[in-house]
Amino acid sequence: MKPVKIGFLGFGTVGQGAAIVLARNALEISRRAGREISVKSAVVRDINRTREAGLEGVILTTDPLDVVNDPDIDVVVEVVGGDEPAKTLLLQAIANGKHVVTANKALIARFGNELFEAAREHNVSVAFEAAVAGGIPVIKSIREGLAGNKIQWLAGIINGTSNYILTEMRDKGRDFADVLQEAQDLGYAEADPTFDVEGIDAAHKLTILASIAFGVPLKFDAVYIEGISHITREDTAYAEELGYRIKHLGLAVDTGDGLELRVHPTLIPERRLIANVDGVMNAVLVQADAVGPTLYYGAGAGAEPTGSSIVADIMDAARVASAAVDNRVPHLAFQHDALNDVRVLSSSEFSTSYYLRILVDDKPGVMADISRILGDEDISIEAIIQKEPTADSARVPIILLTRKMVEGAMESAIAKIEALGSVEGTVTRIRVESLG
Ligand code: HSE
Repeated sequence: MKPVKIGFLGFGTVGQGAAIVLARNALEISRRAGREISVKSAVVRDINRTREAGLEGVILTTDPLDVVNDPDIDVVVEVVGGDEPAKTLLLQAIANGKHVVTANKALIARFGNELFEAAREHNVSVAFEAAVAGGIPVIKSIREGLAGNKIQWLAGIINGTSNYILTEMRDKGRDFADVLQEAQDLGYAEADPTFDVEGIDAAHKLTILASIAFGVPLKFDAVYIEGISHITREDTAYAEELGYRIKHLGLAVDTGDGLELRVHPTLIPERRLIANVDGVMNAVLVQADAVGPTLYYGAGAGAEPTGSSIVADIMDAARVASAAVDNRVPHLAFQHDALNDVRVLSSSEFSTSYYLRILVDDKPGVMADISRILGDEDISIEAIIQKEPTADSARVPIILLTRKMVEGAMESAIAKIEALGSVEGTVTRIRVESLG
């Protein structure tokens, strides 16, 4: 069979990682795909920059149109990131009848509906395994492996930078800012680290996971997003004292009354496997009716792990090229005309338990005031830690764990607690999930 020809838009760490995997495992890959896959060309910013060894045969160009308009290229792999020119170039490649593989999570989360529609019109596919959790084949697992299930919820550690920062804060008692700097130096963080630490990167990935889990159109704007920049090393230590770990989770829950789509730091019991996913590693836990819980773990970033997902997508594109659109696995797991536009709940409708850290004056009656406010809102306390005052402060932290409730009640209680004269500053509030 004729070899499949690939063109890369972008040839940085991830692009070269994919090309190296294709070159090194060429024999294994062609034994599986039934045909050779060869990289024809790649768009780069600087033709004279040194590349990884083994990529000498790749034609380099600075003009992306050399790739998207080349009639010899079957599959365009986009690894430049960002909205533009990535979106326009992919639409052009699709219009030219090329299959598209992308690692661009922001692009799929925000413009995927449009890209998929264009792909259907032109009888090609858009593949995006590398966009979520790097090397973990979680899209394929949910979309195909769990196709017989009704998915109830999923929870993922899907931003390696946040996980690395929280792990270092807990294990070594380091401060947030200090670990973030290190994560940037090590190259884990996105070009703009606020995407990582404020939850935006995880929200892009959650948007994609939720759509393939529940068969809803991509709804990035409906995701509740909270990052980790307000978490202190004291919070990680108190959580540990209570038998929990703080993880930055993306959660998608089918409540029956609508979907909860939320990204936020979360206390989870330390005995859960996912609570022990540390450093830059990623994991996605999926609860489905037939199979029960399944957990997918692995590298969420990096040249060859992400390259591994890209190569698998290229091989799928090579296979589906001869299949009619209706006989392919749908982009979002469900047939496009069977997607349901289910309501997404607002944050005040979420149901969770809470960890609260409240800094109070060390005087009688304060705890009683706080308990009364929580009781008035029908919020039940599950555990309390109160620390002794230190020599240099008249204030003490009170740490509370509550039972599950509707978030609106907690918002109202927190406003009343913060208004107490004996309470200093704002209340730190972290959601708690049992994931049982
Ligand atoms: N910045 C991302 C992370 C890279 O930290 O997980 C992979 O998407």
